[in-house]
Amino acid sequence: MSSEVPAQYRRVLSGMRPTGQLHLGHYHGVLKNWVELQQQYKCYFFVADWHALTTHYEDPSIIGDSTWDMVIDWLAAGVDHGLADLFIQSSIPEHAELHLLLSMITPLGWLERVPSYKDQQEKLKEKDLATYGFLGYPLLQSADILMYKSGLVPVGADQVAHVELTREIARRFNHLYGREPGFEEKAEAAIKKMGKKNAKMFIKLRNAYQQDGDQEAIGVARALLEAQQNITVGDKERLYGYLDGSGRVVLPEPQALLTKASKMPGLDGQKMSKSYNNTIALRDKPEDVEKKLRTMPTDPARVRRTDPGDPAKCPVWQFHEVYSDESVCDWVQKGCRSASIGCLDCKQPVVEAVLTELKPIQERAQEYTEQPDLVRSIISEGNEKARDVAKETLEDVKFAMGINIV
Ligand code: TRP
Ligand code: SF4
Repeated sequence: MSSEVPAQYRRVLSGMRPTGQLHLGHYHGVLKNWVELQQQYKCYFFVADWHALTTHYEDPSIIGDSTWDMVIDWLAAGVDHGLADLFIQSSIPEHAELHLLLSMITPLGWLERVPSYKDQQEKLKEKDLATYGFLGYPLLQSADILMYKSGLVPVGADQVAHVELTREIARRFNHLYGREPGFEEKAEAAIKKMGKKNAKMFIKLRNAYQQDGDQEAIGVARALLEAQQNITVGDKERLYGYLDGSGRVVLPEPQALLTKASKMPGLDGQKMSKSYNNTIALRDKPEDVEKKLRTMPTDPARVRRTDPGDPAKCPVWQFHEVYSDESVCDWVQKGCRSASIGCLDCKQPVVEAVLTELKPIQERAQEYTEQPDLVRSIISEGNEKARDVAKETLEDVKFAMGINIV
C-alpha cells in the first residue's frame, strides 16, 4: 500500500483528541502502533485540541486539563520525541488558515456525505452537533494531513472516510491551482534534466499511460522519477502532475494506514471506551486496577463456584486473549468448563499481566509529571519544527492560489 506513496511523502501524521484520560484501549489500539511507526518513518503526532472543541465546545475545560496528561501518557507509552515531532494543533495557527483556504473549494455535499457527520449526531444526541465547526471537522483533518504533506495516515476504520475526503480535496486543489503559468514548458525542461535515456523512457511511459491507459506504465514512470537525483523537489512535483495530467502536485494525496482493530475489550466485553464506563486508565492506581478486574463480570452461568462456564461468554476470556500465553489459555478453557477453577483464580494471571504492563508506563509517567518543564520543552520544540513545515506548505498553497504573494 505505502509503495504507492512517493518517497518524499512517506511520512506519517496522526492526531488524538484530548478529551480525558488515556486507557488501555488507546494503548493497544493506537500508541503501540505509533511506537512502531516512529522507527520506520518520519512521524508527526499531535494533540487535536481544536478537533476536541468540535464536540466539547460547551465545556472545554476537559480539553485543557487532558492535553498535558495526554502528552505525558504518549511519552510514558514509548512515543519518542527524538524520533517523532510532538505538537499541539492550536499552537500552529497555520492549520486554521489552511482549513479556511481549503473550505473555499470544498463542496458542501462532500462534507455532508462523510458518514461520521450523521453517525455522531445520532450517537451523541445529548450534544447539539448541528454546527459549522462539526460539519467542517473532517476538512480540518484534511488540513492537518496536507499541511505536512504526509502520505501515510494511521487511522481506525471509522476515520478512513476522512482520509478519502482528503484525497479528493488534494486532487481538486491540484487540479484548480496546479496549473502554474508555463507548466508544460517547465515540465519539459525538467524532463531534460533526467538525461537523454531516462527522458526518452519517461516520455514513452507517459504516452503509454495517457494514450492507452497503461496503469503499469505510470507505475514504472513514477519509480523512474523517484530514482532521479538531479532534479529538484519542485520539478519532481511538476513531473508527477505532468504524468497523470493533473498539473503540479502542490498537495500530495495521502493513503490511510489502516490500524488493525484493537482486540482490547472493556471490562464489560464491549469496546473499551470512556462513554461505556468500562476502562482501565493508564494511570489507574494498581489497587484500583486490581479491584476493577476482580469485580468485572464473568459468564453469568457461573452463579456458584461449582457451575461450569463457557469462556466464549466471558469478558475475562477476552483479556486472556490479549495477555495470556497458550498454556494459560488452555488452563482457563479446561478449568472454566469443568468448574475446576474459580473466576477469581482465572482472573489472577490477567491482574498480574495488566499490572506488569502498566508498571513501567506509570513509572515513566511519574518521572515526566515531576518534570513539567521538560514536557513543555519537548512540546515547544515539536511545535517549532511543525510550524516551520506548516509555514512552508502555506507559502506553497498561497503561491499556487496567487493569494497574498509578496
Ligand atoms: N479526527 C481524529 C479523531 O477524532 C483525530 C485527528 C485529527 C487525526 N486530525 C487528524 C487523525 C489527522 C489522523 C490524522 O480521532
Ligand atoms: Fe470467565 Fe474465567 Fe470465570 Fe470462566 S473461569 S467464567 S473464563 S472468569
